[in-house]
Amino acid sequence: MTLETREKAEFGYERADFEVVRAKLKTLTGINLADSKDSMVYSRLSRRIRALHLKDFSGYLSYLDNHLEEQENFINALTTNLTSFFREHHHFEQLKGYIQSNRRPLKIWCAAASTGEEPYSLAMTAVEAYGRFNIPVEIIASDIDSKVLETASRGIYKIEQVSDMTADFKKRYFHRGKGINAGLVKIVPELKKLLTFKKLNLMDAKYALPEDFDIVFCRNVMIYFDKQTQLAILEKIISHMKPNGLYFAGHSENFSHVSKLLTPLGKTVYKPKGMTQ
Ligand SMILES: C[S@@+](CC[C@H](N)C(=O)[O-])C[C@H]1O[C@@H](n2cnc3c(N)ncnc32)[C@H](O)[C@@H]1O
Repeated sequence: MTLETREKAEFGYERADFEVVRAKLKTLTGINLADSKDSMVYSRLSRRIRALHLKDFSGYLSYLDNHLEEQENFINALTTNLTSFFREHHHFEQLKGYIQSNRRPLKIWCAAASTGEEPYSLAMTAVEAYGRFNIPVEIIASDIDSKVLETASRGIYKIEQVSDMTADFKKRYFHRGKGINAGLVKIVPELKKLLTFKKLNLMDAKYALPEDFDIVFCRNVMIYFDKQTQLAILEKIISHMKPNGLYFAGHSENFSHVSKLLTPLGKTVYKPKGMTQ
């Protein structure tokens, strides 16, 4: 943010305030904000400052220190939740093949589920693989952000978000809104019941989750963490996976520095090597 923009801003915001926000966010979530994100921090947290009738960022930061319950809003405001149905389509093709050749009960963990498009895509893939809704597949969808999880568990989306799907696919997995809900689609209950939503911070010392996941989708979240944090999180995630499981990463997430933990299987899909001592 330039000096001029700072001076004209609705709420007082110094570079030092950005540094405090950055340090707090890193401690709470592992997210490492770049220098260039100071305008983003201003616009995202201004809404909280306005809602709380505070005057400036330093007032907000003191408020945050004295009201632990504000941490949730602080985190929700600063996460980036961009996602879409069948994002990086090739992963879902690969998963479908895996499910078809492993017709046994499967546990899938979607570790940065955001507003739900990714875990619902996983569920649709599993249903397509079996050709029916009643399947032995369980999906746990987690995220640190409580607001996106609310959206995910509602399972209501704008019709444009599913425009790439065939008419048949849309009919199978969504109810179309009518009247005041025109323009919206809602996930069918048969699909929804394959999923469980859970708030989970990947930075937590321990995850209250099963330890036998066959599949983990942890995509487009590690990019926000530094290498040391990525390593610590990966070790924990892998400890919740079966040795022959599959780990799906985001397109720009490179794990060549953690080759002791993961074996690449091509196109950002990995196999855990087992825990190191
Ligand atoms: C860019 S979205 C990725 C969504 C989805 N995985 C995809 O690839 O389309 C990143 C998500 O990671 C979540 N996130 C960030 N830090 C987290 C943490 N420490 N623990 C759990 N989730 C986190 C954010 O709330 C956000 O919803």
